[in-house]
Amino acid sequence: MFDSLSGLKRSHSCGALRAQDAGAEVILMGWVQRRRDHGGLIFVDLRDRDGLTQVVFNPEVNPDVHNKAGVLRDEWVIAIRGVVNLRPADMVNPQLDTGEIEILVEELRLLNASKTPPFQLEDYRVDISEALRLRYRYLDLRRPGVMKNILFRHRAAQVARQFLNGQGFVEVETPILTKSTPEGARDYLVPSRVMPGHFFALPQSPQLFKQLLMMSGLDRYYQLCRCFRDEDLRADRQPEFTQIDLEMAFITEEDVMRVVEGLMVALFKDLLEVHLKPPFPRLTHQECMDRFGLDRPDPRFGLELKEVTDLIRESEFRQFREVVDQGGIVKALNGPGLAKLSRKELDDLTGLAGVYGARGLAWVKMQQDWQSPLAKFFPAGLKQALNDRLEAKEGDLLLFIADIPAVANTALGQLRVHLGQRENLIPPDTFHMVWVTDFPLLEYDRDEGRFVAVHHPFTAPKEEDIHLLEAEETRGQVRARAYDLVLNGQEIGGGSIRNWRRDVQEQIFQVLGMASEEAEEKFGFLLEALEYGAPPHGGVAFGFDRLVAILCGARSIREVIAFPKTQKSACPVTQAPSRVELEQLLELGLRLEK
Ligand code: AMO
Ligand code: AMP
Repeated sequence: MFDSLSGLKRSHSCGALRAQDAGAEVILMGWVQRRRDHGGLIFVDLRDRDGLTQVVFNPEVNPDVHNKAGVLRDEWVIAIRGVVNLRPADMVNPQLDTGEIEILVEELRLLNASKTPPFQLEDYRVDISEALRLRYRYLDLRRPGVMKNILFRHRAAQVARQFLNGQGFVEVETPILTKSTPEGARDYLVPSRVMPGHFFALPQSPQLFKQLLMMSGLDRYYQLCRCFRDEDLRADRQPEFTQIDLEMAFITEEDVMRVVEGLMVALFKDLLEVHLKPPFPRLTHQECMDRFGLDRPDPRFGLELKEVTDLIRESEFRQFREVVDQGGIVKALNGPGLAKLSRKELDDLTGLAGVYGARGLAWVKMQQDWQSPLAKFFPAGLKQALNDRLEAKEGDLLLFIADIPAVANTALGQLRVHLGQRENLIPPDTFHMVWVTDFPLLEYDRDEGRFVAVHHPFTAPKEEDIHLLEAEETRGQVRARAYDLVLNGQEIGGGSIRNWRRDVQEQIFQVLGMASEEAEEKFGFLLEALEYGAPPHGGVAFGFDRLVAILCGARSIREVIAFPKTQKSACPVTQAPSRVELEQLLELGLRLEK
């Protein structure tokens, strides 16, 4: 019953034809999106990645073809030959690019049938469970909205490549089967058959290879590369994701930032016709913490945090005093007009603060006086001092969190973002870029009982802070030559100037608690390469999925990845990961415990 394609060559896509094509003979191919029978006439919306075209089977034009069209069902694959016809004025569909025309079909070829799809493919807005969409991703991708994201992503990649090519960058592929590069996540391991008991790690990023390329004299490298990180997933994280990764030699921070700003300007201009104005503003990490509580600030709205630890020293509120006496801090924010929140809403906010580790959330509703369970612990003078600092007026809501700095900042910073979204304080369709600089190089990890790298171990300390590495007490104060680019409160990229001298790199490994044998075993190749004339170098990497998701307004990076993984890091299409044959394990010298 099916026909072949022979002798037919597609003349146009399903999104191409316009009024001026009227009278032309065309050949279209695609999927039946919908078939409607109207008293003799059969209308089919024919779809391909480019759009929809209405095709008409008229028994008076050709009764056999009309007859044949009677069998068509959703998602059947067909080819048609026919003539472009102007639709009568009252039948024009302004929603559709091809809405002024239709095709009067003279020949129909049935290329393939389709089972009834598990969900409707026609309307992007139809609410379908994500699990089902991802299981049948190839069908999901036929839907115009999802397809549009993938096409947009392709264009974004082209713009990025074109820009970087123009700046003298060279695209180089780096190995996927490699050795662990620590970026803070667990590695995906691949066993070696040839060397039983030995494993490759999939790269968490091409970090060390791009540094080696600088030592090779490549000067300017880039790659749209896949990175693999075994970590807990969120809406903006995938176990494999794509970076725009770049590295430059003989440069300082300023040079990298200039290139990145140029790249962002090009992407926004070519893809959205949005004109960003470099240089982008910069905030130090400290300032971000002070004002926003997070290292990815969203300065598009107010509700900034204020520290009130000094004032609280005067209060008699035990919970706060204890925290302060133990070296903690008290941070506060003022939500203008938010005294209207109900008890339940305040409880929800407390719950949210708890998610980020806060032991409590204290609130004050500003009326003539403070309305708050805490009011009685605060003498009038102190209340006035707090009101002044927080610029509180009647109708406002004051929120306080007392804790160690990391918790107080994170929890209140997250509450700020939550309130900003909830109260619609963020202007729609705005793009705000900010550089975050002066990160600490190291942070103390209580669980591990040692310092760990905030960025990664290859990031250079600021020259003027190197002496602070010596003593344990001052290590936490060393600032890194690192920078993050934050767009609308999301970290889209980060990078640094690297340690290009062996002695400094060795010292960092040592400070990170790595004995020299361990450093040699893990990174001996890097240390060795640093001895053969390594130029000063640095770079940056962007989360390409995140960037594209923000640019096209998608709510999750899964919407801009052709075949994303589920929350369980599984591939819903192929059902990977899967069990393997015993022989395969034996060949690899592996035995399963369970
Ligand atoms: P970093 O680890 O900061 O730096 O990664 C760079 C950017 O990659 C994105 N990203 C992710 N996107 C999706 N899913 C994930 N699991 C994920 N993890 C990170 C973020 C992040 O800003 N080698 C260094 C870069 C350098 O120093 O040049 C690196 O990988 O947007
Ligand atoms: P409690 O006496 O512990 O029930 O606390 C009284 C009020 O103070 C409650 O509203 C708590 O949420 C709040 N509170 C307690 N500890 C803290 C803290 N560390 N930071 C902010 N608020 C707190």
